[in-house]
Amino acid sequence: MSAASVVPAWAAGAADPWWVWDDEVDRLVAGLVDGGQVPAVNTALRSWVNNGDPLPAGLPSGLAGWLGRVNGLPSWADAAKLRRAADFNRRKDTYLFMLYGLGSGIMSTVIPREARSVYWSAGGANMQDRAAKTFTFGYDLSDLNAFEPSGQFVVTANKTRLVHAAVRHLLPQSPHWRAVSDEQVPISNGDILVTFHSLGTFVHRKLREWHVPMSAADEEAFLHQWQVAIHLLGVRDEFIPKTWAEADAQSAQVLTPLLAPTTEGKELAEDLLGLTAQIDLGVTRGFLNEFVRYVLSDEVGDWLGLRRDYAAAALVRTGWPAYIAFREGLLPIAPAGFYLFDQFLRAIAMLFLNKASSPASTPITIPTGNRPG
Ligand code: HEM
Repeated sequence: MSAASVVPAWAAGAADPWWVWDDEVDRLVAGLVDGGQVPAVNTALRSWVNNGDPLPAGLPSGLAGWLGRVNGLPSWADAAKLRRAADFNRRKDTYLFMLYGLGSGIMSTVIPREARSVYWSAGGANMQDRAAKTFTFGYDLSDLNAFEPSGQFVVTANKTRLVHAAVRHLLPQSPHWRAVSDEQVPISNGDILVTFHSLGTFVHRKLREWHVPMSAADEEAFLHQWQVAIHLLGVRDEFIPKTWAEADAQSAQVLTPLLAPTTEGKELAEDLLGLTAQIDLGVTRGFLNEFVRYVLSDEVGDWLGLRRDYAAAALVRTGWPAYIAFREGLLPIAPAGFYLFDQFLRAIAMLFLNKASSPASTPITIPTGNRPG
């Protein structure tokens, strides 16, 4: 189904998020790309890491002025909720790493616009490096100090916003991307909301489905953290869902009907799962395939050609809910497969932590070109 046929009503009275980008910074960054200034900007941005850091010296004045204005939390950010969200992330970290990594990460490959943009941008040629950079975003967001001066999320979000601005200028110059894209300019506010639903909304829904205990305040805090995150990525406040009910409705309207396989997405999924399989997760590739099918659906598994392993499928279907119940203190005796699931979850968490805790080794940098072909 083409994206055009599922253009949603969104919120009554609001502008149409499919036709909103990030005009001011898009213009600024396009100028930097065309003027050959991006490498120098990337060098200057390297030392800018913590939310409390001053803006680095050596930035072009237009960019420094813009960053000076956007670099901070919105007036509606609620410090108490953000602190609670950080604590919630810490309490549920293993589930979150698993769901973001294997759930949202693989789902991104069946969101056609995202898969094609990622594939045909410069970073698509090196998925290991790209996955590490994306981990940085998730890790910084999940950190206990994420929004505090000693945390790094605000800076990471601003750098991501600059990368997206560059991609909006660069991808329309790629003949490969143009040949497969149904948009003239990628990464609209609508697209970012779709991706948010594949991350925050999806993870929240799964935690509920899996009966992971969460208080109403936890759920609200988790939403709030994402509301601030997508604001920092340049989504207009009027488009940001106010409640989980609104987010779920928007997701059903704009994410679910859009999911579809693409040549690019299949290759990206294979890259990602191949990468994961190279690391010893204590499980077979068949188990990994079945876990992805369990988390995302058999339909998605079939689209991506994930080979079946029926024994592993049975183990996941019965063992995973029991594992969660035991872990959350709702089942007195460790169920069959406990150690397998436990090792798997820990290995995914380690993968996340090792890759992402050293952002200096994988700094987010503004691209200067596209994937050659
Ligand atoms: C880059 C996160 C939405 C396409 C990045 C980066 C991060 C990120 C952390 C920098 C890492 C890197 O350079 O590889 C997010 C988040 C989103 C979002 C959290 C929404 C909540 C989107 C959407 C699209 C998209 C909707 C396309 C439809 C890209 C592309 C790159 C990128 C093409 C550049 C890759 C490269 O060539 O280096 N994004 N993104 N993103 N993002 Fe997003």
